[in-house]
Amino acid sequence: MSAAASSQLGTKQPAAKAQRFPKRVHKQPSQPQMPFVRPTIYSTENPAPDVNEAHLSITHGDCVEGMKLLANASVDLVIADPPYDIGVGKAVWDTVPHYMQWSRTWLAEAVRVLKPGGALMLYGSPERLWICHLKIMCADEFGLEFKQHISWVYKQGGDSRMNNMVKYAVRMEHLEWFVKPGAGHTFNLDAGTEAYSEAEFKEALAKGVGRVTAESLSRGKPPKNWWDIPRENSRSKEREYGSHPSMKPLRICDRIVGIHSNVGDTVLVPFGGSGSECVAVGAAGRKLVAYEQEAEYHRIIVRRMKGPWRSHRRQYRRTRSRRGPYSPP
Ligand SMILES: C[S@@+](CC[C@H](N)C(=O)[O-])C[C@H]1O[C@@H](n2cnc3c(N)ncnc32)[C@H](O)[C@@H]1O
Repeated sequence: MSAAASSQLGTKQPAAKAQRFPKRVHKQPSQPQMPFVRPTIYSTENPAPDVNEAHLSITHGDCVEGMKLLANASVDLVIADPPYDIGVGKAVWDTVPHYMQWSRTWLAEAVRVLKPGGALMLYGSPERLWICHLKIMCADEFGLEFKQHISWVYKQGGDSRMNNMVKYAVRMEHLEWFVKPGAGHTFNLDAGTEAYSEAEFKEALAKGVGRVTAESLSRGKPPKNWWDIPRENSRSKEREYGSHPSMKPLRICDRIVGIHSNVGDTVLVPFGGSGSECVAVGAAGRKLVAYEQEAEYHRIIVRRMKGPWRSHRRQYRRTRSRRGPYSPP
């Protein structure tokens, strides 16, 4: 008798084994941990004796001068969030050609010190054309391999300007991923996956019948090329250590560091700003070489690195060990 016929007759068929939402199915590979190290503060007048040996070095001064002291092929990852406004504040460039000329000087050093296979993650504003120039420069002049464009999108912004708006609200930023050719690159998939909620899990199973299984979904959602992560707003606890106009959220920095580097690797942050990348690098047990030329911002980095990054490190470890697929804090 067919299943349809038997159900019409009210006979019970053995139920197909339901695929259950896995609570803790995926074990993170254990990562070696680095001992806690105090950040060391330097200046370009008083540089680290051997910057490549320092665990967490934060230098007050010009990154181009600082990077000149680094050995060739000595860093595994560069996270660059350069200033992009021309003729603003203490900016040393007043025209686009001058900005490009300056960009060439820091990019030349950053690419020189990057190891083959190392990644350059470059931020850019969607409101400025410079990122297009910089991308072409990275590929054509410095021979970097363009891997992918990532959009960082966020939900707030523009609401207070609704009365006189004449263009779209800006709610995204560019992040460009380049790799120095010559060796395989790091891409830690598990650091980029996010856990499915129970509802999403059920939906993915239902939609992917025959293609996806509970086991495959237990690895989490594949990392995508747009990241929906809120900005650090004025009430964020990260702002307590001082104000900076372009503070990046720690969740973005954690993602970049986790996916594109390994424990013990050296990460170069040429434009320290408020130190978000520095906190993430220290928390994840990587070595840090960072620069910031403004004394006021350098002090914010030092304040954040001397205290809160330790608690962020505990949080980072807890998140990675408990939840299986990395789900940002
Ligand atoms: C866009 S902000 C970086 C923000 C950072 N990602 C954060 O989350 O706070 C750029 C920073 O680079 C610094 N800067 C600009 N030119 C520099 C240079 N030549 N050397 C070192 N720092 C520089 C600026 O003072 C500014 O704080």
